[in-house]
Amino acid sequence: MVQLRSASTASQEAREIPALDGAAPLIGHLRDFQRDPVAMLSRGQSQLGDLFRFRLGPRQFVLFSGPEAHDAFFSAPEDQLNAKSVYQFTVPIFGRGVAYDVAPQVMDEQLGFLYPALRDSAMQQFARIMFEETSQFADSLGEAGEIDLPAAMNELTVNIASRSLIGQEVRDQVDAGFADAYHDLQKGINTLGFFLPRLPTPAHRSRDRARKQVAEIFGRVMTARRRDGVRPDDFMQSLMDATYEDGRALSDDEITGILLTVLFAGQHTSAVLATWTGLELLRASSYLARVRDETRAVYGETGSMSLDGLKQQVTMEHAVRECERLHPPLILLIRKVLKPMRYADYVVPEGALAMVSPAVSHRLPHLFANPDRFNPDRFAPPAREDRQHHYTLIGFGGGKHRCMGKHFAEMQVKAIWTVLLDRFDLSLETDFPAPNYGSWVTGPEAPCRLRYRRRSQGRVFR
Ligand code: HEM
Repeated sequence: MVQLRSASTASQEAREIPALDGAAPLIGHLRDFQRDPVAMLSRGQSQLGDLFRFRLGPRQFVLFSGPEAHDAFFSAPEDQLNAKSVYQFTVPIFGRGVAYDVAPQVMDEQLGFLYPALRDSAMQQFARIMFEETSQFADSLGEAGEIDLPAAMNELTVNIASRSLIGQEVRDQVDAGFADAYHDLQKGINTLGFFLPRLPTPAHRSRDRARKQVAEIFGRVMTARRRDGVRPDDFMQSLMDATYEDGRALSDDEITGILLTVLFAGQHTSAVLATWTGLELLRASSYLARVRDETRAVYGETGSMSLDGLKQQVTMEHAVRECERLHPPLILLIRKVLKPMRYADYVVPEGALAMVSPAVSHRLPHLFANPDRFNPDRFAPPAREDRQHHYTLIGFGGGKHRCMGKHFAEMQVKAIWTVLLDRFDLSLETDFPAPNYGSWVTGPEAPCRLRYRRRSQGRVFR
């Protein structure tokens, strides 16, 4: 038992948070964590329960697992569990004056401008874009061949995101510079950048050059829109029309920064979830047959695809949710502890890093029956395993930082696989891949190749 006198929320005795064994001198659990963070954290959870601590180098981390602990994590106020201090590496990418560079209430106001652009009427238009872009992609493939699945999903989601989240004009420039600049910006997210985001390394220099290029591309589009009086229904326009509470309009650079925030939050994560969904469906042949039957039942033999149709595709939706559970693209969500935090009999000390892990929590056997098995029916009645508690599934986060693009992302993954499964017979050419924990979004290890053959009965959805 230890007495934690500094705890503002707890004056009585608190129990010491259990510590994971096996820490090496100086580096703590760093080696195990680098090798397989999910295996290491799952071991800690099963040995020590909902709350335990471990060390990566000098930093103390505390993992919160299970719905009650998630609830405490997501409900903690910003001045206690703080996201901004953890996401400082994004500031050179998104830019000054936006997102994690500003006070949390300003960030809330900035993201709040985008909610109208995600309402159902706008989603109708986005669903059309998702189907059109996937159809064009399908048209570009020959009768039969092989594709690198993660690369294909990346290309598709960049095209969909640039057109729907940013604007048609940016989509038109994907091949003329935007994709390269975006790629260089993405390379700015690396381990060194996490700790020292301003260090003048070659990767950081190309990141800073790319940020300027993107600002120029977006700036030209905004200037042309104002000049020509064009006002499309997209995220860029919502931001151009918005004003802060004090009546000030957003600068072009702030608009660029907010659009980059959304693009970074939503594109790669969607590409990875789409990749895992394809992989799981292709090895579950009987479930795949049910997904195809559902497509026929919803759209008939010739019907055109729509948001309403997507909403009716619950068999497909359960498969996507099952992939969110088994393969959450973001395996760790982290906050800095600014004030000691009481949880059950414990006090999480100031200065530690608190985290939840969707990848660990989604396989807790007391929440999910046979947790390593792909079984989308666990979300259908009567099981409805995700309804046991508000925070059973946390692949899209929770609380005030919960994902604003969850619905968009789910629709997108559904639309992509509805079109591709309708057009092609597909099979996995390589072994089912392991997760690659070397990247900030957890996709599959290479190689991950699909063989495709055009189906004679495949329809053309436009
Ligand atoms: C499969 C795709 C996606 C996944 C797995 C995902 C996951 C998440 C998670 C876990 C968080 C919480 C982060 C935290 O608590 O630290 C988050 C936040 C966020 N997501 Fe998503 N996301 C996806 C797609 C999208 C899309 C398509 C958009 C935009 C339309 C988007 C926009 C955002 C934004 C802006 C935030 C920050 C919210 C805040 O901090 O207030 N995401 N996302």
